[in-house]
Amino acid sequence: MKQICVVGVGYVGLVTASCFADLGNSVVALDVDEKRIENLKKGIMPIYEPGLEELVRRNVKSGRLSFTNSYEEALDGAEFAFIAVGTPSGVDGNADLKYVESAAKSIAHSMTASLIIINKSTVPIGTGDWVADIVKGAQPKPIDFAVVSCPEFLREGSAIADFMSPHRNVIGSLDKDAANKVAQLHLPLRAPIVITDLRTAEMIKYASNAFLAAKISFINELADICEAYGADVKEVAAGMGYDARIGRHFLDAGLGWGGSCFPKDVQALAYMAKGKGLNPRMLNDTVVVNYDRRKAVATHVEKLLGGDLKGKVIGLLGLAFKENTDDMRDAPSVDISTALISAGAKVRGYDPVARKAAAPLLPEVEIFDDVYNMTDGCDALIVVTPWNEFKQLDLERVKDLLNSPVIYDGRNIYDPTLMKAMGFSYRAVGR
Ligand code: UGA
Repeated sequence: MKQICVVGVGYVGLVTASCFADLGNSVVALDVDEKRIENLKKGIMPIYEPGLEELVRRNVKSGRLSFTNSYEEALDGAEFAFIAVGTPSGVDGNADLKYVESAAKSIAHSMTASLIIINKSTVPIGTGDWVADIVKGAQPKPIDFAVVSCPEFLREGSAIADFMSPHRNVIGSLDKDAANKVAQLHLPLRAPIVITDLRTAEMIKYASNAFLAAKISFINELADICEAYGADVKEVAAGMGYDARIGRHFLDAGLGWGGSCFPKDVQALAYMAKGKGLNPRMLNDTVVVNYDRRKAVATHVEKLLGGDLKGKVIGLLGLAFKENTDDMRDAPSVDISTALISAGAKVRGYDPVARKAAAPLLPEVEIFDDVYNMTDGCDALIVVTPWNEFKQLDLERVKDLLNSPVIYDGRNIYDPTLMKAMGFSYRAVGR
C-alpha cells in the first residue's frame, strides 16, 4: 500500500485517484473547488462516467479514498503527488499552465517529507523541468523531491477500463530511483512500461493524441473520396484495419473529433512547432479537415430536404461530443445547430445524459427528454453522437413520427440498404 495524493478531481484526477485506491493504495484526492469536494464527500460525482460513482463509493467505504481541499492534509505521509489539473487552450492554441503552476506552488509550500511529483496533465514539452524549478523556488526550506511525467491515455466514457487495462504506461524521468518507484506503482496494471526522459514522455502524449486525430481526419477525407466514387468507407476501414501496421481503431468516419483533448492537444503541438520556427503542415490540415466536417452537415441536410432549410424542424440525435459522456466541450452539435439555425431551421435536440450540460451551450435548441417526442413533427433527423440507444431505435415508429422520412447519419450507425428499403431518404458518411 502506498500513500498517494492526487491534485485535481476532473476526469483524469478522479479516475486516477479511485483506480489507485481500488488497487489497494491509500489515496487522498484534492481540489481547490470546495463545492466539488463537498459533493464528492456526499457521493455526488462532478462528471458522468460509467462505473465511476460505484468505484468511488466502494473505495471511500473501505477507507482507501478520501477527499479534501487542504494540501497539508493531502500531503501528510504521501510518497507520491499526482498533478492532474486542467490545461485549457490559451490564446493562439498554446496550453494554459496556470493550474499546473498553482498546484506545484501549493505542493512546494505544504510538503514536509521527500516526495515524487508526477505530472498526469497533458503539458507542453519542457513543463516537467519548469515544475521542478517552481517547486524548488517555492519551498520554504529545501526538501528532496523528483518530478516525473506519467501521461494519461484514458478516454472519456471508458476511463476506468482504460486506466485498469492500459496499452502501456509511460514514465519520464532521469531520476532512476523515482522512475522505478513510479513503475512499481503501475506494476499491478500488467502493461508494458516505457521509461524515458521527462521531455520524451511529454512528447509521447501529444504525439499519440495528434496521431489519433490525424487518423480520424484521414479516414474522413477518404470518406468524401469514397462517396464521390461509390465506395463504402466502412468496408474500406475494415479492409485496411486487418493490416496490423494500420489497425482498425480510430478509423470511424463521421462528423470528426471534438472533446477536451484532441482539439487542444493538436493545436498545442502545432503551436509548439511554430514556436521553434517549424511549419507543422500535417497538424494544421488535421484540424482544417476536422472542422470542415461540421460545416458540411447543413448543406447535406438541405439537399436531402430538397433545397431549403427555412422553417424546417431538424432533430439532433445526440449532443455530447461522444457517446457515454455528458461532456459538451467542442461538441459538433454546437457548430451544427448554429449552422442550421442561421440557415433558418428550428433545431431540437435529445441526448441520453448530456441534456443538462448541453442546455446553456444551445440556448436556441429545444431540448427534449424523450427521443420519440423530439422526433414527432421533425422534418429530418441528424445522428450526431453514436449512442447505443440510437442504434436500437424503433425506426418504423421514427418514420411515422417524422414529417418527411429524412435521416442524415453523421456517425454511420445504420445500414444504408435497410434504411432505403424502409423508405427513408437516408444519407451516411462515405457510403
Ligand atoms: C482521447 C484519447 O483517445 C485518449 O487516449 C486520451 O487520454 C484523451 O484523449 C486525453 O488526452 O485525455 P477522448 O477525447 O476522451 O480520448 O475520446 P476518444 O474516444 O479518443 O474520441 C475523441 C473524438 O474522436 C470523439 O469526438 C470521437 O467521436 C471521435 N472519433 C473517435 C471519431 O470520429 N472516429 C473514431 O474512429 C474515433
